[in-house]
Amino acid sequence: MNDSRSILIFDTTLRDGEQSPGASMNLREKLEVAQALIDLRVDVIEAGFPIASPGDFEAVREIATVMRGARICGLARCSDQDIDRAWEAVKHAEQPRIHVFLATSAIHREFKLRMTREEIIERAVQGVRRAVSYCDDIEFSPEDAARTEQDFLCQVVEAAIDAGAKTINIPDTVGYAVPEQMAATISMLLNRVPNIDRAILSVHCHNDLGLAVANSLAAVAAGAGQVECTINGIGERAGNCALEEVVMALRTRADVYGCTTGIDTRRLVPTSRLVSAITGLQVQRNKAIVGRNAFAHEAGIHQDGVLKERTTYEIMRPEDVGLPKNDLVLGKHSGRAALADRARQLGFRLSGEQLRQVFEEFKKLADKKKEIYDGDLTALIEQQLHGGEQEEWQLAGYQIETGSDGTPEVELTLIHGDERMTERLQGGDGPIDLAFNVVERLTGLTLQCRDYQVRSATFGRDAQGEASIEIEHDGKLYRGFGVSTDTVEASLKAIVSAVNRIAAEQRRQTRQEKTATEG
Ligand code: KIV
Ligand code: ZN
Repeated sequence: MNDSRSILIFDTTLRDGEQSPGASMNLREKLEVAQALIDLRVDVIEAGFPIASPGDFEAVREIATVMRGARICGLARCSDQDIDRAWEAVKHAEQPRIHVFLATSAIHREFKLRMTREEIIERAVQGVRRAVSYCDDIEFSPEDAARTEQDFLCQVVEAAIDAGAKTINIPDTVGYAVPEQMAATISMLLNRVPNIDRAILSVHCHNDLGLAVANSLAAVAAGAGQVECTINGIGERAGNCALEEVVMALRTRADVYGCTTGIDTRRLVPTSRLVSAITGLQVQRNKAIVGRNAFAHEAGIHQDGVLKERTTYEIMRPEDVGLPKNDLVLGKHSGRAALADRARQLGFRLSGEQLRQVFEEFKKLADKKKEIYDGDLTALIEQQLHGGEQEEWQLAGYQIETGSDGTPEVELTLIHGDERMTERLQGGDGPIDLAFNVVERLTGLTLQCRDYQVRSATFGRDAQGEASIEIEHDGKLYRGFGVSTDTVEASLKAIVSAVNRIAAEQRRQTRQEKTATEG
């Protein structure tokens, strides 16, 4: 007899995850991530915070309208306006959910909300009731629950369930809890809240002390039935509980937890790669489950052991998390079908147009490089996913002179619409700094470089360089990504791709202003 409990996986990559600095995604990217989450078989997708901005609203509404196969959730504070907007956004979903939250800890009550305990309970009840008037799947979160007095937490939770909440989520908003405390809080609520059997208890842990996964597992062991998490653990500050880690811990140690999830674990690595490609947030090499080194055995003694009997040093099978068995080599003579097939195995679903463009880049690369590895292909696809639908600016050519004794000189040619524009400058603090100055001249934008990284996509001296860049413009962060066997060209492409994101945002704002004036 199988008496294991089934744990619901609530993914908040598109909401809390998107709150990672520099990780904001456009509509097309959010839809791609949402589709990947459906393929991964998460139970709930928190698609965004609809009141936060028109872009957020539009994304949640589109995901709710188009995606099938998971509950689609929108976040709202406990205010009529927020809740109404959240409902407007999720109402076309197959299974809509509204997630209302209100802070309950003494610190938040006193300094942020300036509300008494009674007022908090009243507001929470009002919020849940309004949400229930729209749909029956309501989740309530007492924000900063992990620092809330136990008696008061019990009162709020009881009132929220009475008002109609079907899921009660316990957030460790600031990542302050430790596993023993998280387990004790869940047990305490299960023991003390009289109507707790009418709701599912959920847990939402932040990673400030590196304990988000451990805290979530402790909560599950104590009786929580839902875990909130993000792909690659992205999110505010140090991030959220990493979906891939919590899911594989539950699966690998089913002997301890006695729980299952509905996740198709073979989609974990592909989904991780997609989210990393889209957000520009690289996964550290030694990251559990999805890091490049997660299954790489370096020590001879380990390699020998694994060859004799895999389980000597491996607790999970790479194929169970979706790591391709071998690093397939493609070359000059590989056709579009082989490329499409490998892209699929690596977890990327490419549209016809995306495939056409990646194939074009692949052919150019095959002229320069004999063997094309998974890393090369992933880099080309990442570049494609980074580029927007409309590339307002294109890099047409460059000349760079630099050396230990001379002053750098950079000449760039960009294409803007039908116009070909060239500018040459001398000086600067090295060629990349100077390239920034030239791009500023050509585009008329002011650009602050906040982060700049170049790394090789695979091994060998002919490997492609991947450049990722974070640029601040008008107080907002924009990411850029470029790939080339020439690292300077990769860097220039990254700058231009960030500029294209700025241009897209400017177009979006202009559209919005136009609609506002017309409406
Ligand atoms: O961390 C937090 O408290 C949240 C809530 C909105 C659930 O993200
Ligand atoms: Zn959070």
